[in-house]
Amino acid sequence: MTIVIFGGAGDLAQRKLLPALYNLHVDGLLPPTWAIVGTGRKDLTDDGYRQFARDGIERHSRRPIDAATWAQFASGLFFVNIDIAEPAGGRPLASLGARLDIIEHERGEPGDRIYYLAVPPSLFIPVVQQLAAARFVAPSPGAGAPYARLVVEKPIGHDLHSALAITDAVAAVFDERQVFRIDHYLGKETVQNILVLRFANSIFEPLFNQKYVDHVQITVAEQDGVGTRAGYYDGAGALRDMVQNHLLQLLTLVAMEPPHALTADVVRDEKLQVLQALRPIAGSTVDGCTVRGRYAGGRVGDRAVAGYLAEPGVAPDSRTETFVALNVRVDNWRWAGVPFYLRTGKRLPRRSSEISVHLKAVPPILFNAPPDAPLGRCVHESSPALAANVLAIRLQPDDGFSFFISSKIPGPQVRVTTVEMDFDYSTAFGAASPEAYERLLLDVMAGDATLFMRRDSVEASWRFVTPILDRWAEQSAPLPEYAAGTWGPAASDDLLQRSGRSWRNP
Ligand SMILES: NC(=O)c1ccc[n+]([C@@H]2O[C@H](COP(=O)([O-])OP(=O)(O)OC[C@H]3O[C@@H](n4cnc5c(N)ncnc54)[C@H](OP(=O)(O)O)[C@@H]3O)[C@@H](O)[C@H]2O)c1
Repeated sequence: MTIVIFGGAGDLAQRKLLPALYNLHVDGLLPPTWAIVGTGRKDLTDDGYRQFARDGIERHSRRPIDAATWAQFASGLFFVNIDIAEPAGGRPLASLGARLDIIEHERGEPGDRIYYLAVPPSLFIPVVQQLAAARFVAPSPGAGAPYARLVVEKPIGHDLHSALAITDAVAAVFDERQVFRIDHYLGKETVQNILVLRFANSIFEPLFNQKYVDHVQITVAEQDGVGTRAGYYDGAGALRDMVQNHLLQLLTLVAMEPPHALTADVVRDEKLQVLQALRPIAGSTVDGCTVRGRYAGGRVGDRAVAGYLAEPGVAPDSRTETFVALNVRVDNWRWAGVPFYLRTGKRLPRRSSEISVHLKAVPPILFNAPPDAPLGRCVHESSPALAANVLAIRLQPDDGFSFFISSKIPGPQVRVTTVEMDFDYSTAFGAASPEAYERLLLDVMAGDATLFMRRDSVEASWRFVTPILDRWAEQSAPLPEYAAGTWGPAASDDLLQRSGRSWRNP
């Protein structure tokens, strides 16, 4: 197959795609004949592109470059100079088509193609339309005919309306089975392990419901600030950038019903059911169920860092949130009454993604009775003595999970404390796990869309998120700030404290 990377000389290609493809090559997982063709406006020769790829692989590959393997890999890299936005009526893909035919002929490839959209989102629709105009996509390929697949990066739109415009434009050219919408979180080993943890162990799944779970927390914390991405981020914000895709996808994995098979559509049907069961947060409800904030200057570790408004490229009057926390409900039989608290932000104390499932406390008697409770008095209103059990799934770093349970402290008295049973990927399995993009690119080649977002799921996520954005857009009060290096604005803690709960800060 040939992977055509639109935006092949961009940041994503250099940091993620080319290193992932190199590692797949090292593992012998690419098909017998293949080519990687980068495209863009840069005036690069094939050799120039090979050097660009090598720089990226040296800096970002999980394995070092080996001279012989590199020489083989480099011989499959090509670059074609095109400007997708060239004047209307132009045929920017004409030269690409001619070049692809030659490469595929010389390398004995059957013509299977993967078109990867690593260009700015404003070019998603133009590229797809140009692919159709250049007849790169057979309207209904017959069995055995070469395939054409499309990989779409995030963000797919900035609200429901714009997302529909992209999904409609894609659907006009590609069948849904040919489309692979990437959420790289879903390619992480630890994220895939959520379903294994739930459905391959009899200890946890019986507990995953409103009878036993008090609440669930999903935290995706970044230590970095906006860095060089202000051009994109200042127009997006934390809700669009992280919640609409990654956090809601994680929520679906924790909350979904057991699928009856592990096939793409069965798994994605179950995930969609969760998104459709989300209680809408709209109008004045937004004020009580969401918290947003923006980082001010502060200290992260031992470094002093600037506030968001002082970052290069951020508009001086920006109202973009760099932190968001939500109290979300899944209104179905399994999860009725169980809050799902979601939170993500930049410039938090550490980089950490974690899902924690907080079980209900045991009754406030025996070991859970407050130690000073006099006999015979009602103790139900006192604070319980024991911490409830927590299953904490660490997605990154230190991938693994911990189960917190109560245990007796050795000694003559009965004293109980919380102990941690810990599973750590690197200790258990040694070598570093493959990168998410390795797994996802391999799945695109295999035509397995299980780990990719289906069109209806993207639309359901935007349907949930858009009313929150609409409400925020109506408000003019100053955005709450939090000092860089802290866990977000005070209102984020209040969101849980109102019901006597608190965040588990990883
Ligand atoms: N970087 C990440 O970590 C990351 C993560 C998730 C999603 N994404 C998404 O992936 C996409 C690419 O992101 P990126 O960070 O790699 O951006 P980038 O570094 O700006 O790369 C964009 C690429 O698009 C090409 N391009 C721009 N205009 C073009 C045109 N008119 N015709 C042909 N090529 C054109 C650019 O090449 P020339 O300037 O040479 O034309 C460049 O190679 C975006 O949609 C982004 O949202 C990126």
